Amino acid sequence: MLQPENILCREDKNCKDSNDRFFADVLDGLQSIPKTLESKYFYDEKGDVLFQQIMGMPEYYLTRCELDIFKNQTRLLNGYIAADNSPFDLIELGAGDATKSSYLLKNLVETDTDFTYMPIDISGNILSVLNKRLTAEIPGLDIITLEGEYFDMLEQATHISARRKVLMFLGGNIGNMEKDEALSFCMKLREYLNPGDILLIGFDLKKHPQTILDAYNDKQGITAAFNLNLLTRINRELGANFDIQDFEHYQNYDPLTGACRSYLVSLKKQTVIIDDKVINFEKDEAIYMEVSQKFSKNDIAMMAEESGFYIGGAAYDNKGWFTDSIWIAK
Ligand SMILES: C[S@@+](CC[C@H](N)C(=O)[O-])C[C@H]1O[C@@H](n2cnc3c(N)ncnc32)[C@H](O)[C@@H]1O
Repeated sequence: MLQPENILCREDKNCKDSNDRFFADVLDGLQSIPKTLESKYFYDEKGDVLFQQIMGMPEYYLTRCELDIFKNQTRLLNGYIAADNSPFDLIELGAGDATKSSYLLKNLVETDTDFTYMPIDISGNILSVLNKRLTAEIPGLDIITLEGEYFDMLEQATHISARRKVLMFLGGNIGNMEKDEALSFCMKLREYLNPGDILLIGFDLKKHPQTILDAYNDKQGITAAFNLNLLTRINRELGANFDIQDFEHYQNYDPLTGACRSYLVSLKKQTVIIDDKVINFEKDEAIYMEVSQKFSKNDIAMMAEESGFYIGGAAYDNKGWFTDSIWIAK
């Protein structure tokens, strides 16, 4: 069995590469019209903590709904993924702290299932938290953590073993992509799979617009702090001079398209310097931060079909607000 310290850490060169990539992506985004920043950069150490707080907020129903599925329908999910009793790699994309998947992992270990858990995350910090917790809480769990981008690490996972693959993409993360991007993402995932391999994927379903808006616009301002923290990160890691007081979080939800979008609005005309690059903001100009797309059952069925999967089953929380869909590679 692999030991907890078997984290595939970044070498110094990779670290420099990832800093260069961060710089290039930030500049590219802020020099675009409209200005934008990529939400994958939310998760530095403080961002991880703030996201944990978001998940604990009463308004943020997503985590509770999916937790309900993983706590109360563990055997149903295990039945789908361990159906033919053959050994497999359980690869979780953007695992975070694995709060939800840990219920599944416990059940798989308790039922003597032969599998290796491979959490992928761009945040080395959250992976070491996860690794410590899971090895203490689930003795006998075979775990290899993979720090980096989804597809770089998926590539690495395919070199580690040739066993059948079960991918997990939870938390409605697929909703953090534009629709065409989400479809290309699923098609690309399909390329790493053989027929019969599984993608277990979470979708936040369309529901009352106010319920959705409230989840991303909490009164305590935690979501606002989470968004603004990316400016602090850019200041610290890229030597920029954003004045955080001069930006404000703004959220909206369009029930027709199902898109819930967050922005940071410049409260005045101002100039920000990043390294030696000058970025000008008009008063009330918005930086587009993130979409959290909501889906109908029909949207999900179409996306599965178009990306080379068929739907093998689904689990819903007790409110019917969220679903984990089991897609089988055709
Ligand atoms: C919203 S959290 C969700 C965590 C967990 N899956 C859940 O459902 O609670 C998203 C996680 O994905 C990671 N992440 C985001 N973009 C990523 C990328 N492009 N490659 C790898 N990890 C990424 C973040 O670091 C973060 O831990």
